[in-house]
Amino acid sequence: MVVREISPGIYAVGAIDWERRLFDALIPLPQGTSYNAYLVQGSEKTALIDTVDPSRELDLITNLVSLGVERIDYLVVNHAEQDHAGTVPMVLELYPGSKVLCSEKCRDLLVRLEGIGAERCEVVGDGAAIPLGGRTLRFLSTPYVHWPETILTYEETSRFLFSCDLFGCHLATSELYCDDFLTIAQYSKRYFAEIMMPFRKSIAKYLDRIGGLPLAGIAPSHGPIYRDPAPVLAAYREWSGDCLSNHVVIPYVSMHGSVRMMVMRLCDTLMGAGVKVHPFDLTVTDIGDLATTLVDAATLVIGTPTVLFGAHPQVIGAAHLANLLRPRARFATVIGSYGWGGNAVDQIKGVLTHLEVEFLDPVMAHGAPDAKVLQDIDRLGMAIRDRHASLGLM
Ligand code: FEO
Repeated sequence: MVVREISPGIYAVGAIDWERRLFDALIPLPQGTSYNAYLVQGSEKTALIDTVDPSRELDLITNLVSLGVERIDYLVVNHAEQDHAGTVPMVLELYPGSKVLCSEKCRDLLVRLEGIGAERCEVVGDGAAIPLGGRTLRFLSTPYVHWPETILTYEETSRFLFSCDLFGCHLATSELYCDDFLTIAQYSKRYFAEIMMPFRKSIAKYLDRIGGLPLAGIAPSHGPIYRDPAPVLAAYREWSGDCLSNHVVIPYVSMHGSVRMMVMRLCDTLMGAGVKVHPFDLTVTDIGDLATTLVDAATLVIGTPTVLFGAHPQVIGAAHLANLLRPRARFATVIGSYGWGGNAVDQIKGVLTHLEVEFLDPVMAHGAPDAKVLQDIDRLGMAIRDRHASLGLM
């Protein structure tokens, strides 16, 4: 990525990863991503805010060299995950006089993950300020967005907030800025679903504080910079609040057609009742799409066949993912079929322990779904409709 100035004396010096297609060996990246890092030059001191994924360390170093950066006094590490902190060891080696500024938990993680000497780190607490000469970095403690060590960095003169993962999106683009949030809203929401959704209650609290800052822009560590922060802040308020939608998410696997028949019957019943549906055949599902629909949906219905004695392993995986992401859904249930081992429902319920949901009566077919099973599916659809109506969603 070329170096670009975003405010006098503040430069984007990170890297675009056009080619990456998987993150954390889990999350698909259909649009690639970027690892943003920012150089802040004061009249007396220079700070680098975050680094890049080790696979792109040459980009960062090249950018620093092209800017003629001979000294880095402070290396701010907002977050210790390797896509931002993985090049910290190289920066510290190239700039031996530099000191890491980070939270106490981040220091401990950097020691463990990156082998950095704790003596190279200076712990900064919530509200601490570091003057650079004409510029001042101020730190906000924001644990669990999305690791427990995370801080945000606010530069008081430019009024830019360097938010690391928060407000980011996995999007490789030559556009430095996003001036129309609607053009990237789908990527931002997907990112929120994959990374931030489990921490929405913490995020809701931080949004008030962030919204109270004079802001000229928000510069995250993935995706473009927001010169108008209002739309992304509003979106985050919506996604992290309590307002649900009249939607049902139905991840399922069907081995021989029985579960698929039940899922499609449920979809028809729900659509006929005015409820929106999102069926996901897990054998071909992009889990980022599944996660995104979980942000708003009021109900989760999991469809599973039985493999030997239990639910299909891919269904268990999806249920585990949903449990980790902790969506706001208020209702859940299981539909499916079995031959001789009928404990799939309890198995799936046992996975969804973090969801704060009312479990509706499951519908399990012993063999292929017969007329009674399909009537039970219809009753389930009406029960979901009634629950949604009771929440004022339709
Ligand atoms: Fe972009 Fe949590 O790392």
